[in-house]
Amino acid sequence: MAMAAGGPNGGGGGKMVSLRLQYYCVFAAVGVAVIVLSLTFLSPSAMGAVRQNLGTVVANSGAGERQARQAVAAVVAKPEPEPEAEKVEEKKEPPVVLFNFGDSNSDTGGVAAAGGINIMPPEGRTYFGHPTGRLSDGRVIIDFICASLNTHELNPYLKGVGSDYSNGVNFAMAGSTVSHGVSPYSLNVQVDQFVYFKRRSLELFERGLKGPVNKEGFENALYMMDIGHNDVAGVMHTPSDQWDKKLRTIVGEIGDAIRILYDNGARKFWIHGTGALGCLPAMVAREEGEHDAHGCLANYNRAAQAFNKKLSDLCDEVRLRRKDATVVYTDMFAIKYGFVANHTKYGIEWPLMVCCGNGGPPYNFNPGKYGCGDLCEPEAKVLSWDGVHFTDFGSGLAAKHAMSGEYSKPRVKLASLINGASKKPSSVS
Ligand SMILES: *[C@@H]1O[C@H](CO)[C@@H](O)[C@H](O)[C@H]1NC(C)=O
Repeated sequence: MAMAAGGPNGGGGGKMVSLRLQYYCVFAAVGVAVIVLSLTFLSPSAMGAVRQNLGTVVANSGAGERQARQAVAAVVAKPEPEPEAEKVEEKKEPPVVLFNFGDSNSDTGGVAAAGGINIMPPEGRTYFGHPTGRLSDGRVIIDFICASLNTHELNPYLKGVGSDYSNGVNFAMAGSTVSHGVSPYSLNVQVDQFVYFKRRSLELFERGLKGPVNKEGFENALYMMDIGHNDVAGVMHTPSDQWDKKLRTIVGEIGDAIRILYDNGARKFWIHGTGALGCLPAMVAREEGEHDAHGCLANYNRAAQAFNKKLSDLCDEVRLRRKDATVVYTDMFAIKYGFVANHTKYGIEWPLMVCCGNGGPPYNFNPGKYGCGDLCEPEAKVLSWDGVHFTDFGSGLAAKHAMSGEYSKPRVKLASLINGASKKPSSVS
């Protein structure tokens, strides 16, 4: 209920045709077989350009290669600020500073800026009213986090025009992997970019100029990560007896990233596990395999959980070893799986349905057809925008749960890390 009156079959249709933005989910078995969820446009030439820009090894549509396309369009309206975004007047002691590392789930326009991609509506329709480079009709999780912390949106590192890095930098880029060399902006590159940014910013202060973030800002900043789904999806295309080893390698690289950040002064970490990969409509509609009680692909979800277990263990280790650091791990799998399993609780009728897709419920996703032939209403309670990425509605719900601390280890609210000093939070679960 509360579904779009026009339903997924109703709206959109014809009038969007010329404006429609397409996201392809390109699955490339690259070397060690890591998958990259990247974005491109409808036109083959634009698509080629994007592929080039992303430096992604794209699977040719030849034999056996997997290639999926996603349409992106619009969704669920939620124009007002999050309720918990309490306006705590502007007497913030140290300003809020965030550094985010990630993939499309937290890209706030990085790939669009880097690639010079002129994205067109209906992307962005629900919240911003215009395209922003996010793979969503509106906000992504980090946007809700920024709003709740009463700070402006986090600007992409590669945004050349109008950027304001006074509250930190978003290094997240759509299509990014943890694994080195598989995507152009893999986690290690994002960390190198951070180190570069920090040096340049501090240099400015040393020369008596005003840089974007000062020494204290870096020390008090929150270092956030939300990356791994592209890697896990890639692992699934390798023989299952290699999964454990590959996942261990990937999580080891996250450990390297955390170490380098720590060595560069980071003391407060907020790490997101990966979501319920097996519940992504694009996966459910396309991939083979056993479905669980809620219609999700069991093997993909097991892999996501195995990755998360290792990531959570890594966070435990870092917490033990670095006594002066705070490391919070948040189980995005539990959050996102809960939306599907308990969908009625959230007023969601079709938990595995895409807003911008084709074919109507239950998935509104046709692997052979892209575009938003069937576009949900902006108010519709639909979690998935394009089959892989969340809608504004879905991200808002996920952000609220993530920030609550209820799915975190230790169980602390995100806001408590901002205001607290860089020491261990007291309530540890
Ligand atoms: C669904 O909701 C119930 C009650 O709130 C909760 O106990 C259960 O853990 C939830 N299931 C999932 C998968 O989140």
